[in-house]
Amino acid sequence: MSASAEVKRITTATLQKMKAKGQKISMLTAYDFSFARIIDEAGIDVILVGDSASNVMAGHETTLPITLDHMIYHAQSVVRGAKRCLIVVDMPFGSYQSNGDIALASAIRVMKETGAHAIKMEGGEEIIDSVRRIISAGIPIMAHLGLTPQSIYKFGSYNVRAKEEDEAAKLKSDALLLQDAGCFAVVLEKIPATLAQEVSASLHVPTIGIGAGAHCDGQVLVMHDMLGINTEFRPRFLRQYLNMHEQVTGAVKQYIDDVKGGTFPTEAESY
Ligand code: KIV
Repeated sequence: MSASAEVKRITTATLQKMKAKGQKISMLTAYDFSFARIIDEAGIDVILVGDSASNVMAGHETTLPITLDHMIYHAQSVVRGAKRCLIVVDMPFGSYQSNGDIALASAIRVMKETGAHAIKMEGGEEIIDSVRRIISAGIPIMAHLGLTPQSIYKFGSYNVRAKEEDEAAKLKSDALLLQDAGCFAVVLEKIPATLAQEVSASLHVPTIGIGAGAHCDGQVLVMHDMLGINTEFRPRFLRQYLNMHEQVTGAVKQYIDDVKGGTFPTEAESY
């Protein structure tokens, strides 16, 4: 393909059409240029610049410490690498919860400074005024319900959410509220598969599941988990497609041996 050839970009409208046609949506996280390019060229529909960067890129225990500036830096790198997929950026903890003015200003910064196509926000009815204001400004929002990691200290654990009837009922009404406010998709994290199925059937916008069973309209995983870069995180919902930790360790050990044994570089690798 020539450098000038246009790649047809996946949009929020594409995702809605995919749901209508019963085509599943694939989504993965990415946080940097090189992996975003690989994942995009492999044909992913959506890249999420997740605030899980706080865990897998920065080594924090939770997603709470990552800042808006950090998220913007990661998103700018991903945007430079991914030409075809839709790019969604997580609004980090503290950038939208306090009031609508702050939420809108944060969302505008993400869109203006990164070139990404949409944002994601955790929560339902409690953030609905901010959701409405941001969408009125023309910024698409992917919602996120169920286990919302920015509220980990309220939940007290990463266990499955909405197993009880009252929490399940709130989740169902939040999903409809967010759809009516104009959200273009809803992430459902770590909830019972039957509940995710019911929510998916009740919405015309797509649901993207993580630990929410097979009946969601799409699936998302954290790239570091599915590639086996992190080996200590093995929840039941995670399918690991590669053991990169083992492969990279093997390559690095071989390199160390070659350097110490004097077999690298050879004459052919020298000038
Ligand atoms: O930050 C993230 O990676 C996410 C996904 C787990 C949905 O929000």
